[in-house]
Amino acid sequence: MTQPQLAQFETSIDESQSLTTETSRCYLLLFTIAILASPALSDLVFSKVDRRIYLTSHIVRVSSTIKVENVGPEMVSDVLLAFPDQQAKNMAYLMATPHEGKGKVKNPAVALPVEAANPKGMPPALTFYSVPLPKGLAEGDSFTFDVLAVFSHALRPIPEKITQADIQLVVYHDNAHYLSPYVVKAQSLTVKLPDSRIESYTKLDNTKIHGSEIKYGPYENLPAFSYSPIAVHFESNQPFAVAQELVREIEISHWGNVQVTEHYKLIHGGAQSKGEFSRLNHAFSFLWIMARPNVRGASAFRYLVVNLPPRAHSVYYRYEIGNISTSHLRGDSKKTELLIEPRYPMFGAWRTAFTIGYGLPLQDFLYESEGKRFLNITYSSPMVELVIDTLIVKVVLPEGSSDISVAAPFPVEQWRETKISHLDIDGRPVVVLKKINVVPEHNQYFQSIIDISISKSSASYLAKQHWEEVQAVIQLVQNIISRCLATHDKLEASLRDLYRTGDIQACKAARKATDGLLKELSKELKPLLTILQSSPSAAQVLPKVEELVAKERELQENVMVKHSKVVDGYEKKSGACDIENRVAFAATETYSTEGRS
Ligand SMILES: *[C@@H]1O[C@H](CO)[C@@H](O)[C@H](O)[C@H]1NC(C)=O
Ligand SMILES: *[C@@H]1O[C@H](CO)[C@@H](O)[C@H](O)[C@H]1NC(C)=O
Repeated sequence: MTQPQLAQFETSIDESQSLTTETSRCYLLLFTIAILASPALSDLVFSKVDRRIYLTSHIVRVSSTIKVENVGPEMVSDVLLAFPDQQAKNMAYLMATPHEGKGKVKNPAVALPVEAANPKGMPPALTFYSVPLPKGLAEGDSFTFDVLAVFSHALRPIPEKITQADIQLVVYHDNAHYLSPYVVKAQSLTVKLPDSRIESYTKLDNTKIHGSEIKYGPYENLPAFSYSPIAVHFESNQPFAVAQELVREIEISHWGNVQVTEHYKLIHGGAQSKGEFSRLNHAFSFLWIMARPNVRGASAFRYLVVNLPPRAHSVYYRYEIGNISTSHLRGDSKKTELLIEPRYPMFGAWRTAFTIGYGLPLQDFLYESEGKRFLNITYSSPMVELVIDTLIVKVVLPEGSSDISVAAPFPVEQWRETKISHLDIDGRPVVVLKKINVVPEHNQYFQSIIDISISKSSASYLAKQHWEEVQAVIQLVQNIISRCLATHDKLEASLRDLYRTGDIQACKAARKATDGLLKELSKELKPLLTILQSSPSAAQVLPKVEELVAKERELQENVMVKHSKVVDGYEKKSGACDIENRVAFAATETYSTEGRS
């Protein structure tokens, strides 16, 4: 580290230490109060708590296995969990499930419905949640459950600003003891870091380090609200991908497609970058980076991974500021993975805005029952390890949908809008679901239920539905035609290769492949044309579509004829002159064909 950096680092550590002393003083006070707290709580004890804190990404996950025991005479039906307000304000997700034990993979545990609680006589500056037990605990009974708490924005970069050559260091604060409103008889804590590069960590009596893990405890018989602050300062170069805002539009059409459009406003939430470009605006930063192609920040992100559903199609992305230049799509039957590579590495505090769009087959997400349609689709972004500060999901339903209701697995703010596009008469109902502080754990299925029994029979509904079907088919026809044209181009290219390499076999193979592909495409085209021919709504557009198809056929024939002439000529080796003549002839012919079309 350079001198000024070291100085900055020391001040920040000082600052963080004074922070922890302050917090511990506060907790000492709490602790004293807690001893005087309501006696009803003392009927429960935590006989064992195993806690693991995962600091392996910028999303902090704390997973605890807790064995609770009733030592009092009265039946108990709820357990309280406590978090310091400081920590609770960053809590994005909290889930409690009965503990299944190792290796037992029966039915996945059903979550216990955790609720915010406000118990009386508790110390201040704490947030409480209540976990209902599946059945009441009588005297001497015990129950083991798992708690997962997920926090965003809980890692603080220290130093706050780094140059693009520096690694990124972050600090995490917690309590070496499990903060509990009950006595904890036995407990242990493991802190898991991305790797073994640790700047500093709080060393207590019982602290051990194993590679990238720090272990605190075991501790025995600690009183309620026991507190011993710890801080861990470590290297973390994971992408701190934060969407300050994400608007996801899920558009349901009558004819069997779900179109998803996601508008991201993304920021690198890690240490700010300092250096020449930090003073410039983003357009100039981009130029700065382009002029220095070797610049690579250790903490900058190179690419983002998006896991789309298995049958996603027509995937696209668009940028606003800072071009996203490359994306790679690969998939199998379980998922479709999209890798988005920004044109330059994203440094700390840099922003970018872009849009991803994809289509999904409606039948994968929609089912019908008793005149109602149920849409069952995932709520959040498919981007890996993304924190979303504000997520707005808009479900655009087919026109005429009524009796709309939404079932979400967690609380969301909800309202209605109307989207009007040129084909609509009354506009389409839109259900808007908003949530703040969203983490990957929120990417659960939600259901949207619509009544279609009344609207389905109305004339305008039917007319529009048919027209939408026709449009969809035309779109498919157009796609096939463009694939045909691309195939022609490839065949032409094989001729150029022939002149260059003289490889007749390769050229013939290219022709065979083209032949096969064009036959396939023609097969795909047939049923689409049949649909259009039999649909009254398509009467007006049908002649145009047929003309288009006929033109492509003509072009196809010409390209094939030209190809065989050239290859024949080449093969006969009847003299360079002859080939040139034939090429010239073929070229004239193609030219005249194009002239006609
Ligand atoms: C982004 O791409 C567009 C279109 O390719 C181009 O016009 C624009 O100049 C690019 N922006 C930057 C900053 O390179
Ligand atoms: C929604 O779909 C998922 C995945 O196919 C499925 O596991 C879940 O049971 C469905 N939920 C409902 C209510 O149909």
